[in-house]
Amino acid sequence: MKEIAETKNIGLRGVKVADTRISDVDGERGILIYRGLNICDLVVHSTYEEVSFLLLNDRLPTAEELKGFQSALISEREVPEAVYRFMEMMPSTAHPMDILQAAVPVLASDDPRLHDESREANLKKAIRLIAKLPNIVAAWDRIRNRRKAVRPDPELTHAGNFLYMLSGSLPDPETARDFDICLILHAEHSFNASTFAAREVASTHAHLYAAVAAAVGALSGELHGGANSEVMKMLVEIGETHRVKTWVSERLQKGAKVMGMGHAVYHTEDPRATILRGICMRLADRVGDRKWFELTKAVEAATQEEFKKLKGKQIYPNVDFYSASVYYMMGIPADLFTPVFAVSRISGWAAHVIEEKFAEAQPKPELYRPDADYVGSYCGPQACPYIPIKERSK
Ligand SMILES: CC(C)(COP(=O)(O)OP(=O)(O)OC[C@H]1O[C@@H](n2cnc3c(N)ncnc32)[C@H](O)[C@@H]1OP(=O)(O)O)[C@@H](O)C(=O)NCCC(=O)NCCS
Repeated sequence: MKEIAETKNIGLRGVKVADTRISDVDGERGILIYRGLNICDLVVHSTYEEVSFLLLNDRLPTAEELKGFQSALISEREVPEAVYRFMEMMPSTAHPMDILQAAVPVLASDDPRLHDESREANLKKAIRLIAKLPNIVAAWDRIRNRRKAVRPDPELTHAGNFLYMLSGSLPDPETARDFDICLILHAEHSFNASTFAAREVASTHAHLYAAVAAAVGALSGELHGGANSEVMKMLVEIGETHRVKTWVSERLQKGAKVMGMGHAVYHTEDPRATILRGICMRLADRVGDRKWFELTKAVEAATQEEFKKLKGKQIYPNVDFYSASVYYMMGIPADLFTPVFAVSRISGWAAHVIEEKFAEAQPKPELYRPDADYVGSYCGPQACPYIPIKERSK
């Protein structure tokens, strides 16, 4: 071991645990790159399918390769009947993230090459997961509402097909493209909590599905992917722009957080938030109702003003802040926002698991095994005497 980190209880902030070739987050300048390419260029020129190829293969595809990759994704969109049967047995109150997390191992049991740990088989597993996760999320929303799941449409793009499977009607092309951009923006973000969870599981030689199920669990928390649903709850609770200032200052003064604001790495505006703000505005104009855009903007301004007063520093919106109203205006239910994050992040998770398994950025794969200082009961090096149950008191 080259160096021992002395710091503890800091959530591993600033502790470098690995090298990666997949993405870089420049928290000072507010720049995010996937495999060397700026996301601001990717959202202009690419699609989610192309970005997924890029993340998995470390380069952009040729036209022919992209066609092949898109066809592979389309051919893997159907999910096994067992997934529908499992969802039909679940109570309609089950959280969509729990359903998603539980459905991933069902996909594993249906994979004929589950135990093939070649790179090629892992790429195939990645394609299956990228293709099938949207189907699971959309189907669960329909099944819990006692509607029949909509089968995927091979004519539609990855983004358009998800919106179609969710609502049962064809999305307009502008909305499908905006959703495609949202998927690009959420696809990858270096060593965030869920990606680290996936890599940690992969480092034990567990299969890709096991790593992804762990990542879904990690993403569900409100400090990570769960924040976008919380932002929507907040916007609905505030309801009117004139209530924003009081709501925000009461919240910050009692030491509570405004969801969707702040970031562990960005000390300037998250570049994804900048792009999402633009999508939010044009979507509001397209649906002919600026309420959610104006409300979100007002919460951003009020939080920045109050935060500056209280802490003397700036705070900026993160990726979850504007994505909440964007998804809402696209007709996506609020508790599906985090599963939609997973539908996108799956390509980043898979790329990281493959990088971890095949040591593509460092000399050799290594099991993650951090250390901790024991601060519990101590009676000397031989440990404490065991007290039989009859002799114990509290
Ligand atoms: C994302 C997050 C966990 C990053 O945290 P971090 O970089 O470790 O920053 P800290 O939690 O140490 O915050 C630094 C200070 O800013 C405050 N702060 C950070 N985000 C805040 C927010 N959204 N609302 C109010 N205060 C916030 C913290 O309370 C802390 O105050 P203190 O110094 O008085 O203790 C944090 O900003 C947060 O909880 N945001 C809301 C949840 C969210 O949107 N998550 C999605 C992230 S993509």
